Amino acid sequence: MIIAIDGPAASGKGTVARALAAHFGLPHLDTGLLYRAVGAEVLARGLDFADVPALARLAASLDVSALDAEALRTGPVGEAASRVAEIPEVRQALVDLQRDFARQPGGAVLDGRDIGTVIAPEATVKIFVTASPEARAARRFAELSARGEAVTPQSVLDDILKRDQRDSSRAAAPLRQAPDAVLIDNTHLDKHESIARALAIAAART
Ligand code: C5P
Repeated sequence: MIIAIDGPAASGKGTVARALAAHFGLPHLDTGLLYRAVGAEVLARGLDFADVPALARLAASLDVSALDAEALRTGPVGEAASRVAEIPEVRQALVDLQRDFARQPGGAVLDGRDIGTVIAPEATVKIFVTASPEARAARRFAELSARGEAVTPQSVLDDILKRDQRDSSRAAAPLRQAPDAVLIDNTHLDKHESIARALAIAAART
């Protein structure tokens, strides 16, 4: 059983994905971390975002076992991630490991932007999680300011809108709801209600 969870930045898709993985006893991959890891290396090494061969090499040599989720969940790394994610050569370098993860015996849960459309179009369960930009910005602001990042509600909203625009308008695997994905708009739902909906959707498909 493959469960594909897609949605924009700060939509709560990771929360839903982790809950489904725990419920069904499946391994979970947050695919945003792959792009974040590449983006973080570009920043750390001072590489040029236009240096496509160097960025593709970085993506191809990524050590997935060494991803530090906490260190990668910062605003600047999210921004760098969405810039490297526009590059088809970078995406291509990350496709096989995501597909291998999805197709392991017993199944898996993956969350990202293109899981139901590109990585695992054959997924048993597809859910598209979203919320208004304002609701997503409020959640991301709470998260980043609790970690001590110097952000304002407006700067976080601007960043979310910029990321939405870049992720949806790029040519390579843009953010899209798959035609057979079920939508959860959690603008007015709390975490528990979102998870309950996702479990009901998954139960109906399995
Ligand atoms: O989900 P998260 O905010 O961690 O993702 C960081 C960035 O990685 C996104 O803005 C998006 O550009 C990119 N991404 C992607 N495809 C995925 C997962 C993430 O393009 N499957």
